[in-house]
Amino acid sequence: MTLSLGIDVGGSGIKAAIVDLATGEFTTERVRVETPQPATPDSVVAATAGLIADLGHDGPIGIGFPSPIVKGVTTLASNIDPAWVGAHAEQLFSAGLGAPVRVINDADAAGVAEARYGAAHGVEGLVVLLTLGTGIGSALLYNGVLVPNTEMGHIQVRGKDAEHRAAASVREVHDLSWHHWAERLQEVIEVIDHLFWPDLVLLGGGVSRKADKFLHFLDVRPPLRAAALENRAGIVGAATAAADRA
Ligand code: BGC
Repeated sequence: MTLSLGIDVGGSGIKAAIVDLATGEFTTERVRVETPQPATPDSVVAATAGLIADLGHDGPIGIGFPSPIVKGVTTLASNIDPAWVGAHAEQLFSAGLGAPVRVINDADAAGVAEARYGAAHGVEGLVVLLTLGTGIGSALLYNGVLVPNTEMGHIQVRGKDAEHRAAASVREVHDLSWHHWAERLQEVIEVIDHLFWPDLVLLGGGVSRKADKFLHFLDVRPPLRAAALENRAGIVGAATAAADRA
């Protein structure tokens, strides 16, 4: 059995589990700790090291992180402390965890997981995955191969970042009805569609569990599906990406 440790760093929680790469299933419980505030590099690395200490893992480690990752460096910090901008995340985590770590964008991680084990498995052509959470993340897959670091959550819709109009958090904070929120999401998908013309759009993030509440409101050109791995995707994809590099 090939095992790899996946970690998902988010604005509110850091989550981890060991993943069996043959199936994409967890072989341990998912462990979680609150993201320290402020979520500076030192505090996040220390919290992550503490979180995984008891898992006793000795193999590849991958981290999904809410920023584009260019050659190991975090380049944007929309939903995490600004001290991350320009930080060498890969070196910092590798030093703090005492082992080589691969860091990729969190939504890219989810895309890798959906392509390998989930709703994008075997899908030909262009797939856009949107992760709807605190922000909006995106993954672009062509014939199952990831084009990294797309940031569709920052596409402008009605003069605002798409994620400021239609992230799952926006629905909660502003207490929007599912219908009203879906109208906003539809506008985001329409703008993305006019730029990329995908063959399939997957909607992921924790809210994909509640797809029955909003999917039927969305009337867009490309076929639309809920992602399959829900909020496990980030962990599974980070673990997969780490093993692919190792
Ligand atoms: C970040 C992305 C991230 C997304 C979801 C956005 O604000 O810029 O890198 O994938 O949030 O966490």
